[in-house]
Amino acid sequence: MMKRTLFLFSIAAASFLAGCSKTSTNEILVGEFASLTGKEATFGTSSHEGTVLAIEELNAAGGMLGKKFKLLTEDNQSKAGESANAVNKLIAKDGVVAILGEVASSRSLEAAPICQKAAIPMISPSSTNPKVTETGDYIFRVCFIDPFQGPVMANFARATLKAQKIALFTDVKSDYSKGLARFFKEAFTAAGGEIVAELDFNGGDKDFKSQLTAMKAKSPEGVFLPGYYTDAALICIQAKEVGLNVPIFGGDGWESENLTLIGKDAVEGTYFSTHYSPDAGGPKGKAFVEAYKKRFNGKLPDAMAALGYDSAMILADAIKRTNSTEGAKIRDALAATKDYDAVTGKITINAKRDAEKSAVIVQVKGGKFAYVQTIAP
Ligand code: PHE
Repeated sequence: MMKRTLFLFSIAAASFLAGCSKTSTNEILVGEFASLTGKEATFGTSSHEGTVLAIEELNAAGGMLGKKFKLLTEDNQSKAGESANAVNKLIAKDGVVAILGEVASSRSLEAAPICQKAAIPMISPSSTNPKVTETGDYIFRVCFIDPFQGPVMANFARATLKAQKIALFTDVKSDYSKGLARFFKEAFTAAGGEIVAELDFNGGDKDFKSQLTAMKAKSPEGVFLPGYYTDAALICIQAKEVGLNVPIFGGDGWESENLTLIGKDAVEGTYFSTHYSPDAGGPKGKAFVEAYKKRFNGKLPDAMAALGYDSAMILADAIKRTNSTEGAKIRDALAATKDYDAVTGKITINAKRDAEKSAVIVQVKGGKFAYVQTIAP
C-alpha cells in the first residue's frame, strides 16, 4: 500500500513537473511503445506506421478538443524489461493521456499493470492473450483473443487439412504462444483430433532439429506452431531438412514479410490465421490501403499496421465522445465503444474490454499472403 502510494505520488509529481516544463497545452500527448528494432522489429514498425497515419489524418482534420495530437514513441527493442521502462517514462516524464501498444502479448502484459496503477488507459492493437485485458479496467484491445483464434485454426486443421494427428510446437518464452497452443489443443481434441506430440522451444533459438526429429517419430499429419515469424521460418526450413514433410501452420504471429524472406520455399503453401487482409476489406479498408501506400512508399499494410491505425482512431473517438483527456473519462468512453466502423471490421468493446471480430486465414503463395477465408466469431 505504502509502495503504491509512493509510486502514484511520484507519477503525479513527475507529470506535474512535466506539465510545467514542457507539455504544451495545445497538444494531446499520446504514448506508444513498440518493438521498432530487435527480434520482432517488423511488428513494431508496422503498428507504428499505422498509428502515425491515423494521428496525421486526425490532425489534418483539425485534431480534437481544439488541440493537435502528438505521438510520443518509445522503442522497446523487442526486449523483456524495456516495455516497463518505456511506459514508465511515457507516463511519469512525458505525461501522456493514454498509451497505445504493444503487438506481442508478453510485452503488453509487462506494461499493463503500470498503466492500470497510474489510471492511464492502454489500448493494445493486437495482443491476443486473454490475460492482457484481465489486468484491469484501464486496459483495452481492438483485436480478437486467442480463445477464438485457437479454435479457428483447430477447425481449419480438421476441416481443410483433414488432419487427425497434430504435433504442437510451443515457444515457452511467449505468453502468446503458450496460450494459443492451449486453446488450439482444447478445441482440436474436442473436435475429435489427437495431439500426438508436444514440444517446446525458446523464441530466438536457432536449432530446432532435435525437437523436429522427435516430432517426426510420432508421425503427425501436421504441426501447429503458434510462434513469431523468425522462429516459424527457421522451423519450416529445418522441418524439411529432417524430413518432416507435413503441413506446418500457425497464428497471427507469423505475419511478417520476413516469414517469406527467411523461409523462402520452405514456407510456400503454409497457412496462418490473422486479423486482416488488404484483399478483404470494405470501403473503409480500401481507403486505408490507398492512404497507407501513399504515405509509406507503396508498401501494403499488414494486420499490425491496420490494427495500429484502428487503436489510435478508437482512442480519438473515445476522447471525442467524452470531450475530455482525463484518464477515467477516456476509460469509460472506451468501454462504451459500440459498432465503430474500423479498418479491421466493426469494433464493439465487450465487458472484458476486448473486441469480438472475425479472423482471416491466409496461405503463403508465391511469397505473398493469399486470402483464403474469413471466420466470424
Ligand atoms: N497476437 C500476437 C500476440 O499476442 C501478436 C501479433 C498480432 C502478431 C498481430 C502478428 C500480428 O503476441
